[in-house]
Amino acid sequence: MKKMKTLKTLKNKKIIVPPIKSQGIKTKLVPWILDTIPDVSGKWIEPFLGTGVVAFNAQYSKALLNDANPHIINFYKGVQDKSITPLSVKKYLEEEGKLLSKSDDKGYEHYKFVRSRFNKGFSPLDFLFLSRAGFNGMMRFGKKGNWNIPFCKKPDRFSKAYITKIVNQVEKVSKVIQPKPQWKFNNASFADIIVLAGKDDLIYCDPPYFGRYVDYYNGWTEQDEELLFTMLKETKAKFILSTWHHNDYRKNEMIDKYWNKFNVITKDHFYHSGGKIENRRTIVEALVCNFNINHIQQHNHGYKEKFKSEQLQLILNEDKTMYKRKSKKHNATKAKV
Ligand SMILES: C[S@@+](CC[C@H](N)C(=O)[O-])C[C@H]1O[C@@H](n2cnc3c(N)ncnc32)[C@H](O)[C@@H]1O
Repeated sequence: MKKMKTLKTLKNKKIIVPPIKSQGIKTKLVPWILDTIPDVSGKWIEPFLGTGVVAFNAQYSKALLNDANPHIINFYKGVQDKSITPLSVKKYLEEEGKLLSKSDDKGYEHYKFVRSRFNKGFSPLDFLFLSRAGFNGMMRFGKKGNWNIPFCKKPDRFSKAYITKIVNQVEKVSKVIQPKPQWKFNNASFADIIVLAGKDDLIYCDPPYFGRYVDYYNGWTEQDEELLFTMLKETKAKFILSTWHHNDYRKNEMIDKYWNKFNVITKDHFYHSGGKIENRRTIVEALVCNFNINHIQQHNHGYKEKFKSEQLQLILNEDKTMYKRKSKKHNATKAKV
């Protein structure tokens, strides 16, 4: 499997859909993201892997994939080391699916049983079961890191056709995931990963969206956004960041504060799942990158392309202002003391 050569052909290929689901999944945005990818000779680095849909479709021969959520990483590590195979998934889902369809409270009893088994033992197959039998393909963990999504209320969830679909997804993903050491899966915080990027690498970041959805593995503060900005502005690698630009109600303040120092392109997108009504509406997605994007059709929200020198100047100005602000604060504190 080669990297850049395959990318062009990949853009016309069917999207690989991962077996794990989550509300922030980028499946529909994959062609747009792939279109933005520049030519690099190094590895694909993804500090916020989520379901893995972007990495599985970018298909670099070398990759460093990370998520703070250990269950995602354990699942894909299992696929990589073949302790999870299409066959083992089929057997597991057939057995659990039967128990689900026969269980009390229209299947809820068995869902609860698997949920509490997962919350104690963290089996990757139970994680897959919950991801596929939970409400609306959502992923959410409670305060203690416990699975916190209700049942989809379909006792016959694991029909033959549905199991085949999931098994095929596991099979496709297992063909794309390269053995160690070409592909490395990590369970750390993003800061430990971004520092590892070299000048030939490409970092794709899809962090939790500031001011939106929060759970045990998705707390995201302004300090996190600032740290991410600082690390990305300092990296020698090329990067692409996914974030939200605005919706019908408000704009993402982080764009003006940090990201519009780089190149920004935007696209309307419809997320159909999520608890809050606000989250179900159209949102304007943004891709932020530190390289030239003149090959991409210009977006619809008024940004002009910034060349590297312009980006550097904006960052330099920002650094000077920050330094002035900090030393002013420092002097004021010293004066008080
Ligand atoms: C928006 S999702 C990524 C979605 C992914 N691109 C997809 O299409 O499925 C953000 C991911 O970042 C992870 N995450 C949250 N905080 C993190 C942190 N500090 N470091 C690393 N990963 C983090 C979450 O567990 C979540 O899987």
